[in-house]
Amino acid sequence: MDKNERIIIIGAGVFGLSTALRLKEEGYNAVTVLDRSMPPVSDGSSNDISRIIRFDYGDPVYADIAKEAYDLWKTDDYSDAFYSAPCFWVCQEGTPEEPIQLRAQEYSEKTKRVLTEIGQEWTAVKTVAEAKQRFPQLTGELASPGFDGFYNTAAGWADAGKAIARLASRCVHAGVSFITGPNGQVVDFEKAPDGSITSVKTSSGVEIAGDRFVVATGAWTASLVPAWNSMLAAGQIVGYMKLAPEEVVELRDIPIYFNFSTGFFCFPPHEGTGYLKVACHGFGYTNSNSSNISSPPSKPPASRANFIPEDGVTRLTSGLKSIFPQFADRGFERVGICWYNDTPTGDFILDYHPEHKNLFIATGGSGHAFKFLPVLGKYAVGCLERNLSDKLLSKWKFPTQFRERFQSNIFTGDGSRGGPERREMTGSEKGTFDAALTASARQAKI
Ligand SMILES: Cc1cc2nc3c(=O)[nH]c(=O)nc-3n(C[C@H](O)[C@H](O)[C@H](O)COP(=O)(O)OP(=O)(O)OC[C@H]3O[C@@H](n4cnc5c(N)ncnc54)[C@H](O)[C@@H]3O)c2cc1C
Ligand SMILES: *[C@@H]1O[C@H](CO)[C@@H](O)[C@H](O)[C@H]1NC(C)=O
Ligand SMILES: *[C@@H]1O[C@H](CO)[C@@H](O)[C@H](O)[C@H]1NC(C)=O
Ligand SMILES: *[C@@H]1O[C@H](CO)[C@@H](O)[C@H](O)[C@H]1NC(C)=O
Ligand SMILES: *[C@@H]1O[C@H](CO)[C@@H](O)[C@H](O)[C@H]1NC(C)=O
Repeated sequence: MDKNERIIIIGAGVFGLSTALRLKEEGYNAVTVLDRSMPPVSDGSSNDISRIIRFDYGDPVYADIAKEAYDLWKTDDYSDAFYSAPCFWVCQEGTPEEPIQLRAQEYSEKTKRVLTEIGQEWTAVKTVAEAKQRFPQLTGELASPGFDGFYNTAAGWADAGKAIARLASRCVHAGVSFITGPNGQVVDFEKAPDGSITSVKTSSGVEIAGDRFVVATGAWTASLVPAWNSMLAAGQIVGYMKLAPEEVVELRDIPIYFNFSTGFFCFPPHEGTGYLKVACHGFGYTNSNSSNISSPPSKPPASRANFIPEDGVTRLTSGLKSIFPQFADRGFERVGICWYNDTPTGDFILDYHPEHKNLFIATGGSGHAFKFLPVLGKYAVGCLERNLSDKLLSKWKFPTQFRERFQSNIFTGDGSRGGPERREMTGSEKGTFDAALTASARQAKI
């Protein structure tokens, strides 16, 4: 590839920024990142107080790459946003009447097998009593009968907003150009007769020309480019509970707790905000139009809207209660929807669009891409340059087999999700969500 090509990257999340930095490191001269807003973007999926960093995976490919990333998180380049903590995975022994539990147990077994294969030690926790002995702060009932769990101490979490801010400033230092706000919000593409892209149109009316384009717009991607049903934006629930300073100290050494059956997970306290954060790695909520294109809201809010559906509040509360009964009635100070861009298999998409030969798609995080921040750019650019093993190129290729048929049930992911089936938000939920977005915009103006 010609190092003087003008490369336009749309999206300043973990996919876009890591790709931009890597391109500069490889000597590309003209790399520009566009976004609706400055990174860390208020409602971007790469922005939050925490993301799990682990290499516990049922899929050996991601286990290997995540281990490579984990080793880098601990180095000086990334460690100021990284906090070590064991990752404690729990599930129930499944029965045929409970397919979700069987699937959870199967994923847990696969993960332990992969860890053993890559030479990583893990510790089995066979009973609730053992769990409480190892992690005495977990005072809830956890689960019985049929409790099954394990933990890996080679894990931790990252302050995602901080890590993205760091990555963005490294991009600036490396010479990446940024255009944000209405001049950076892409609404359309200009095409040559052969389908290749010549420029993007932005919401301010400005056009930006380029030679190669990278679409790294996360959950917004299917509403920007024809996605051929290869991805689905699904909203996931997050809750933030305020802790007193002494509670932050008391819970400092808790593990990251992840219930495979429900997808519920909880982080150690975030000292800067005093928040105890809980979330669910589930199938999520869609926000679709009548063509079945699900999308997050397009206008960037001042901060993530303080809204999740009521059944989501119930799930977060009951998960929290099962580990920390003392917090059952405290309520969340804030909640929010964070968007996954799901693919059918949970694999990323790092490939050229089948109809536009200079349009590279870098997305499909499927709820697990953040941890790869230190290495994602290397793999994305490897795919962009077609300079990677066939195995990886084919793992991350643009899925074309669903082009003609939308079926939300193809998005089953990698088997790691828990909880209820995916569903569309109701009209009244969408109304409440809109009102919360408006409130967030109003607050910003004050
Ligand atoms: C609740 C939750 C928990 C998660 N937990 C973990 C975890 O523990 N560990 C982990 O590894 N991963 C986790 N993930 C997944 C991870 O955060 C995502 O896979 C990753 O951040 C996605 O990055 P992205 O760059 O694709 O998307 P984003 O960060 O959303 O970036 C896309 C960007 O595109 C911009 N954009 C959109 N449309 C346009 C447009 N038209 N013009 C210009 N710009 C546009 C947006 O403003 C946005 O900044 C979690 C995700 C969520 C939602
Ligand atoms: C996981 O969640 C299920 C459903 O709420 C619950 O029955 C079980 O006790 C939880 N298990 C653990 C170990 O937290
Ligand atoms: C649904 O959204 C897509 C992407 O934004 C758009 O192209 C399509 O026209 C919309 N369909 C309807 C019926 O609004
Ligand atoms: C949208 O999805 C539903 C459920 O999968 C399906 O019944 C319907 O035909 C789809 N509509 C369009 C326009 O694709
Ligand atoms: C391919 O990747 C290797 C290893 O990263 C690198 O040395 C080489 O320059 C790359 N080749 C091209 C054509 O980009």
